[in-house]
Amino acid sequence: MFLAQTEFDPPAGSRPKSVMNPEIASMSLRHFLTLNDFSGSELLALVQRAIALKQNPALAADFQRHTLGLIFDKASTRTRVAFEVAMTQLGGASIFLSKADTQLGRGEPIEDSARVLSRMVDCVAIRTFEHARLVRFAEYSRVPVINALSDSFHPCQLLADVQTFLEHRGPIAGKSVAWIGDGNNMCQSYINAAAAFDFELRIACPPGFEPDADLVNANKSRVRLVQDPATAVAGVDLVVTDVWASMGQEHEQALRGSSFLNYSVNEELMAQAAPEALFMHCLPAHRGEEVSAGLLDADTTVVWDEAENRMHSQKALLEMLLSQ
Ligand code: CP
Ligand code: NVA
Repeated sequence: MFLAQTEFDPPAGSRPKSVMNPEIASMSLRHFLTLNDFSGSELLALVQRAIALKQNPALAADFQRHTLGLIFDKASTRTRVAFEVAMTQLGGASIFLSKADTQLGRGEPIEDSARVLSRMVDCVAIRTFEHARLVRFAEYSRVPVINALSDSFHPCQLLADVQTFLEHRGPIAGKSVAWIGDGNNMCQSYINAAAAFDFELRIACPPGFEPDADLVNANKSRVRLVQDPATAVAGVDLVVTDVWASMGQEHEQALRGSSFLNYSVNEELMAQAAPEALFMHCLPAHRGEEVSAGLLDADTTVVWDEAENRMHSQKALLEMLLSQ
């Protein structure tokens, strides 16, 4: 096959796709499918870069003529807007690709979609159901792939959460964190974060709703499962929760509601954490279920900073991945 050699000088940080050997590319290409794709020091550098970009947006690198593809099989407010705004502020563009409007929704294989889209765009962020689908896309992609949430992990949210903790309380290394509720995608990314950022994680889930046992075992030096929320939060520096039924589990809402009744994070539970403990929630939240309205609407809450930080941290992530 004849591959035309391009003659122009590509902008810094970009790869001319027409001359790229997919085998070589796949060996060197970095994706962000879970936090484990980056080292702890790389993740910390990303969080610090996000803080720097927040303080001075003019520091952002220039990615003119770069395009981010956003393949979203599930709803999103924060993740989508954060990526689109970040890409705009980096001088590039993004294309939102929902199931309803693309051939992916009509059964075009994920491998073919990866091959085609990655010849056109410079980075792809995917929000989907099975994590394996994301991995499969990345295997066939010539460009970096970001997990914008799968059923198993939500690594982008962890960048924002760690940034928020750092801004309000200093480094999270050596601190203790309680996860209350479902052992879901967020919980599993917290497990990875405990290892990457070096904090202690206590997880309180109702029986039957624990995170993946292998993942817990692989991180048992930093992660402990308990059933009682009060045991989990005793003296911790950060308490985190999430919805009881994630996207795709809406039909289990009623059943889950009864299992999770004692797993509400409220003022009484927070009183058992350290005096300066923070509360975080990735949002969207259900007031009166996993979190009390008073806690979420308190003047002292950091959840709105946490949401804002999605944009700064995803901008730092895009800078890093687009600079490969
Ligand atoms: N926290 C989060 O990922 O929010 P969205 O579902 O609105 O993107
Ligand atoms: N666990 C939630 C997180 C939403 C941001 C879900 O997957 O729906």
